[in-house]
Amino acid sequence: MYRIKSQIDINSESFQANQKAFLELLNTFRERTRSTIDRAQESAVLKHKERGKLLARERINLLVDPNTPFMEFSSLAAYNKYENQFPSAGIITGIGVIHGKETLIIANDATVKGGTYIKETIRKHVRAQEIAMENHLPCVYMVDSGGAFLPDQANVFPDRFDFGRFFFNQARMSAEGIPQISIVMGSCTAGGAYVPAMSDETIIVKEQGTIFIGGPPLVKAATGEEVTAEELGGADVHTSISGVADHFAEDDRHAISICRNIFETLEHKEKQKLDIIEAEEPFYDPKELYGIAPVDLKKAVDSREIIARMVDGSRFQEFKARYAPTIVTGFAHIMGFPIGIIANNGVLFSETALKGAHFVELCTSRNIPILFLQNITGFIVGKEYEHKGIARDGAKFVHAVANANVPKFTVVFGGSFGAGNYAMAGRAYDPRLLFMWPNAKISVMGGEQAADVLIQVKKDQLYARGEEMKQDDIDNLKKSILEKYEHEGSAYYSTARIWDDGIIDPVDTRKILAMGIAMSINKKWDKTKFGIFRM
Ligand code: COA
Repeated sequence: MYRIKSQIDINSESFQANQKAFLELLNTFRERTRSTIDRAQESAVLKHKERGKLLARERINLLVDPNTPFMEFSSLAAYNKYENQFPSAGIITGIGVIHGKETLIIANDATVKGGTYIKETIRKHVRAQEIAMENHLPCVYMVDSGGAFLPDQANVFPDRFDFGRFFFNQARMSAEGIPQISIVMGSCTAGGAYVPAMSDETIIVKEQGTIFIGGPPLVKAATGEEVTAEELGGADVHTSISGVADHFAEDDRHAISICRNIFETLEHKEKQKLDIIEAEEPFYDPKELYGIAPVDLKKAVDSREIIARMVDGSRFQEFKARYAPTIVTGFAHIMGFPIGIIANNGVLFSETALKGAHFVELCTSRNIPILFLQNITGFIVGKEYEHKGIARDGAKFVHAVANANVPKFTVVFGGSFGAGNYAMAGRAYDPRLLFMWPNAKISVMGGEQAADVLIQVKKDQLYARGEEMKQDDIDNLKKSILEKYEHEGSAYYSTARIWDDGIIDPVDTRKILAMGIAMSINKKWDKTKFGIFRM
């Protein structure tokens, strides 16, 4: 494969200015992440430690193989919501390697309101289970939770993808042969009791873990019976009387080592075949992405410059390089894994959509995963393009992406607006993982366009009544829409609501994608079957 030849002058004023602006965004991201994760001096954390318990992230570090990374999802979930009283939404989810197996780990953070579940905690838990199901990853639940956050019950209990979905997913995964292991390291109350009860194998920590459908206060209120938590559902009870748990652990560390031992007994299943070659660092330094990533979304960026700083040896086998230049398509390797890349390079036209659909077909027929690099304002508008059938051609691209059964990965490196989001494997198109860079923005259209549309609609309404819109009203409407879109379009707004799997540093993109592809080969990929392409 040929090496991309970069046209960027890293000493230029524009590169340096972009880099400076990007590093400010990156510092904000790092600071927000640090303050979410590092809460060592908070009273709930001190209380937790005094009880001799390890913190959720410490538990995970001990569970995974030494010197292997943990790919954490959505660490800024619930950010800027609930007065920031739910850091990471009170749950840590991600992928780590245990005895060489990529494993989905879900750990309650009991220092956040007793590890109870608000809407975002539920979404994170269910999303993590979805990832496990799609990729056939064993699940470890490190349980330490008071169950539902009761004031938020209407948002956590009744709906299809609420609390009940955890246990449904556990049953379905177990039936598919995806191991479900629980370690009860604290409270496990009410509905939450089903997490260990529905697991294939369960470990419980002495004088620390409890499992019960109704805790002592509820039992007293319901029956008048007075009982301690330990007598009702402690480790001794469940490993020697009820049999709800299988292994008795002395403390957190012992429980984790039992869990690791269980992994030694799991079956090694056949993986999806993929031609993996020796990994190579990119020829161009990934740190140069800071000078290239669009801080100002109005600035055009040649997406080959992004690809060059992400793929092995900066080598790229471009497909249809001379045709439909507003999309860049081609093959490359990321840490030795083959990947097909579709990257925006401007607005989507009919021919762009056809090129994209054609390339998706190449990837599915060759069984190569696809990376979508999103920086998209949407499909082209106007009479000329409607007459040529942009809706029909756009639909072909969307159709191809929707039905492509090779693993899809999406990284939003700029804007993600309008139907371009669909064609480029937005969240609704089931990419295995979706990440945002700190500069990324996502909304149905850009703020300026939304403001112009709404002003035009208002003007038309008034005109029909023989009235005119005053300049002051136009200015006020424009200002309020711009502010709203700026706020709701930010990567932080998105990640707080788990519309993505997290915000990432551009430099880490390569490593994260490689982990994603490695995870995706644990399940053999389904054959792709396309439906009717409208011709
Ligand atoms: N809903 C809402 N808030 C809850 C809660 C729940 N189910 N359980 C605990 N909290 C809150 C507490 O009010 C406290 O809030 P604060 O920090 O603002 O004061 C915080 O979580 C920590 O609770 P605390 O009891 O001080 O911590 P703990 O570590 O000693 O005990 C639990 C944690 C979870 C064991 C204990 O709070 C408990 O038993 N909660 C009730 C669990 C229950 O019955 N759940 C049923 C849900 S279906």
